[in-house]
Amino acid sequence: MDQLKDLADQAQKAFAKCQTVAELDHAKAQFIGKSGVITDAMKQLSQLPNNEKPKMGALINEIKQNIESLLNSRKDQINLEVMEEQLKSDKIDVTLPGLKQAQGSLHPISLTLNRIEKIFASVGFGVAQGPEIEDDYHNFTALNIPESHPARAMHDTFYIGELVLRTHTSPVQVRYMKEHQPPIKIISPGRVYRVDSDATHSPMFHQVEGLWVDDKVSFANLKGVVQNFLQRFFEDDALTIRFRPSFFPFTEPSAEIDMSWNGGWLEIGGCGMVHPEVLSQASIDPDKFQGFAFGLGVERLTMLKFGINDLRPFFMNDLRFLRQFAR
Ligand code: FA5
Repeated sequence: MDQLKDLADQAQKAFAKCQTVAELDHAKAQFIGKSGVITDAMKQLSQLPNNEKPKMGALINEIKQNIESLLNSRKDQINLEVMEEQLKSDKIDVTLPGLKQAQGSLHPISLTLNRIEKIFASVGFGVAQGPEIEDDYHNFTALNIPESHPARAMHDTFYIGELVLRTHTSPVQVRYMKEHQPPIKIISPGRVYRVDSDATHSPMFHQVEGLWVDDKVSFANLKGVVQNFLQRFFEDDALTIRFRPSFFPFTEPSAEIDMSWNGGWLEIGGCGMVHPEVLSQASIDPDKFQGFAFGLGVERLTMLKFGINDLRPFFMNDLRFLRQFAR
């Protein structure tokens, strides 16, 4: 009897020594396992006189329950310790700086293109687009550029088999006029390509084409529209332009557009009245309609706007350069 009463104490000591659930299971076997002390005691009950059996049975049960509850509370304790240990080692150090998400911004050429579109939209010009990979017909022939013209030479133009990377945005004039009858009032901004590379010329650059065709559109309108655009683009009401006589096969008369700049003049594009031959190619009657076209260099405008004297950094992806335009 006394031996049995000590069992709970022994179990408690044995369980306290266990550090893991596996050790605890092992210790449990000694007491309440199949061949444990309590199970043995139960088996021996049958040898006791009948009048002692109920009392002894109740005592053994009580001790068994006691040991089970000691076992469970030690098990809970071990699980808690394991969890605390895990929480400690998994701890997130909230004092570490986070990963910084770099914020993008628009490329300076995109900023210029957006600005150009906005200014022209305010005076009624829509935006039209054309393909960058063009055919010879739209890039040259329909624009009245003869077979022998130097611009068609391999050393000026990128050819892809029968096709060309458009050398200017002027083919959009033809494509648009074929689809629409006057009044036509559009600009067409986009990338163009030439075999050309130095500080102010890039093999890929941007132009913005302008086209206004109606029954009475004049050379004076051309000058007014371009000057008004440049004054607003450069935020300078005193800015003036001059037209220098020039030649383009697709305009007649033609002119280079020069802009007043730091006491001198700077060329920023070409222009002229749309050649009757180009109107005819696009099925617009040159006896009924007339209009003007111009083509401006977008890099040139951006360089002047931001005071940059080399065009190449626009396309070198150097963040130190590009960040200066971030807004
Ligand atoms: C043309 O490309 C004509 N299509 C413009 C035009 C349109 C005339 C409509 C008449 C009517 P030009 O080759 O001059 O013209 O080019 C126009 C502008 O593009 C130039 O003034 C210059 O600002 C820019 N440009 C030309 N080549 C380059 C280049 N390689 N890199 C950067 N900008 C260039």
